[in-house]
Amino acid sequence: TRIEKAGYKHFMAKEIAEQPVVLADALKHYTSARGTLELPEALSFKGIDRVTLVACGTASYACHVAKYWFEQIAGLPAEVDVASEFRYRDPVLSPASMAVFVSQSGETADTLAALRHVKEKVARVVSVVNVPTSSIARESDLALPILAGVEVGVASTKAFTCQLTVLALMALKAAQDRGTIDAATLARRLEDLRALPGLMNAALGLSDPIARIAKDLAKAQDILFLGRGPMFPLALEGALKLKEISYIHAEGYASGELKHGPIALIDAAVPVIVLAPKDALFDKTVSNMQEVMARNGKVLLLSDAEGVETAAQGTWKTLTLPPVAPLWAPILYAIPAQLLAYHTAIAKGTDVDQPRNLAKSVTVE
Ligand code: G6P
Repeated sequence: TRIEKAGYKHFMAKEIAEQPVVLADALKHYTSARGTLELPEALSFKGIDRVTLVACGTASYACHVAKYWFEQIAGLPAEVDVASEFRYRDPVLSPASMAVFVSQSGETADTLAALRHVKEKVARVVSVVNVPTSSIARESDLALPILAGVEVGVASTKAFTCQLTVLALMALKAAQDRGTIDAATLARRLEDLRALPGLMNAALGLSDPIARIAKDLAKAQDILFLGRGPMFPLALEGALKLKEISYIHAEGYASGELKHGPIALIDAAVPVIVLAPKDALFDKTVSNMQEVMARNGKVLLLSDAEGVETAAQGTWKTLTLPPVAPLWAPILYAIPAQLLAYHTAIAKGTDVDQPRNLAKSVTVE
């Protein structure tokens, strides 16, 4: 199996490292060098009044990030459900809506059942899948492959960032079809996306410092992840990744929600991981972080260089990422979130690729 892992100790490590390459492939597939979208004709948002995104696990967090994008970039209302809830809550569907099912395997039973539930009730069923021959792909009107390549590690990594990339392109397409973006802005947003593989390579360089920090994180009983805007769902994903493979209890929270409950958990034993790229809400997040530090909380700040030094005063540790277009920051920050989970699991000695009680693809309800 050493060969399959291409010299890496675990599939998860290999799959984390592959992200710059697979992301670049996906971008190349769905865009042109001239700065235009090259998505299938059938992916039209003309006449679509709402996007309903449905998925499970990590894929559902990709949907939550995409909700911010559809609404911010395209002004198109978007809602997200986990598949196991969606079908049983009598969702009110618009006949002019697009339902989007996101699934790495394309075989998750709940997601497939949710797809069948909406099939005749919406204008279009689109799936975002890694396996183009899967049931979910076959049963949708249109399947968009994420082109991540085979993912073996049970904890999803490269599929997540490729799902995000395809969803980002879909949001841009929605904006184009609805006339809420001009050609120059579109080209700039695509250029920002194309910068990601390079930025991801820089983020992968944080592996050693993260491994050192993880030795301390491994001693924690509870860990909180905080983020705002599209970084909030990434906080949820960071917490999920950590619980899945290190078995440490972790929760993701919207930074501004901290004072409404989770702040009660804060003491010197609870590390708080703050995902805060320099965006319009950066100062607000910094003030949430200060609330944590005022209660002796151990803050690990992940941010980009500019202004970090002042913000970082009093933090436990800081990890500096390259500056990134704020819209696409969740795609870049996924890498340190994955590395934090990976190295914490290694420090704890758990089975990274085959965590207990979990399956790669859940084909029963
Ligand atoms: C399982 C896996 C998760 C994955 C989820 C959804 O629980 O362990 O990593 O996110 O299923 O899988 P899918 O194949 O539908 O993306």
